Amino acid sequence: MIVEATGLRKSYGATEVLSGVDLRVPEGSVHALLGPNGAGKTTTVRILTTLTRPDDGRATIAGYDVLREPAQVRGVISLTGQYAAVDEDQTGRENLVMVGRLMHLGRPAARRRTGDLLERFGLTDAMDRRVKTYSGGMRRRLDLAMSLIARPRVIFLDEPTTGLDPASRSTMWEVIGELVRDGTTILLTTQYLEEADRLADRIVLLDHGRIVATGTADELKTQIGGERIELRFADEVQLLKATGVLDGVADELVLNIPSDGTAAHLHHVLDVLRDNGLQPERVSSHRPTLDDVFLALTA
Ligand SMILES: Nc1ncnc2c1ncn2[C@@H]1O[C@H](COP(=O)(O)OP(=O)(O)O)[C@@H](O)[C@H]1O
Ligand SMILES: [Mg+2]
Repeated sequence: MIVEATGLRKSYGATEVLSGVDLRVPEGSVHALLGPNGAGKTTTVRILTTLTRPDDGRATIAGYDVLREPAQVRGVISLTGQYAAVDEDQTGRENLVMVGRLMHLGRPAARRRTGDLLERFGLTDAMDRRVKTYSGGMRRRLDLAMSLIARPRVIFLDEPTTGLDPASRSTMWEVIGELVRDGTTILLTTQYLEEADRLADRIVLLDHGRIVATGTADELKTQIGGERIELRFADEVQLLKATGVLDGVADELVLNIPSDGTAAHLHHVLDVLRDNGLQPERVSSHRPTLDDVFLALTA
């Protein structure tokens, strides 16, 4: 495991913000730490990147202990946002070359790497413009490019697309997807289910400082009960009658019936309805979304 954490705890004053977080991330995978605002995502990332000390628990990155070997840890990771102090009066290219020089790349190597990264992040056209003229999405990409100069083995992305418009978000997703194809390990945090679903091999659902579920998007969906059949009725009378003859949960004028997703089960439900003279307005089969998972597990 390139990232391994066990029993991480952290309190601020009397408030416990992490209550025993465990993580195991294999090299080359993408993990999403998914959770609502205040769940403890940034605190977890700060501990793993040596910026915050946990009160208890331990963590290693590429085998290096975050508390005892912070310098070695910093040598194998990157954290986006760390170059928030990008020089606004310099161009994108100048900023990248500067970081390359700070990373002790020779001038030709820094130039080459800068060229590659500008190309890859779609910033070639804007490379000679001052950063203060960049859009939010361009800044975010430049920030990520800067953090990649040193070729880190593990990249931490704390809410990489929060606040971006849909087009910039989608560009960022493509960029992240490419890093993954290179075999870089990524741990990203997000509040967006769609983002976790789209980018991550595994999702760790964090709520109130606790991991409430872990798995692939599909596993999480299965975990909360697979499929259901939705019957919508025209009025309360029909709904009540249906509730009497079918096992389900009523919500407004809809009856939700847990299902194994087979045609046989759907036939059975329709037979029961017909035998009881019931005629729903709509029948639909519903596979849980990550949204359902989120609501079910973070309620
Ligand atoms: N330096 C700090 N001092 C006091 N409380 C903090 C500090 N950092 C974070 N918190 C609190 O810890 C909780 C978790 O915060 P955070 O890890 O930033 O959550 P997330 O990134 O998931 O939104 C929040 O309630 C936040 O207010
Ligand atoms: Mg945060």
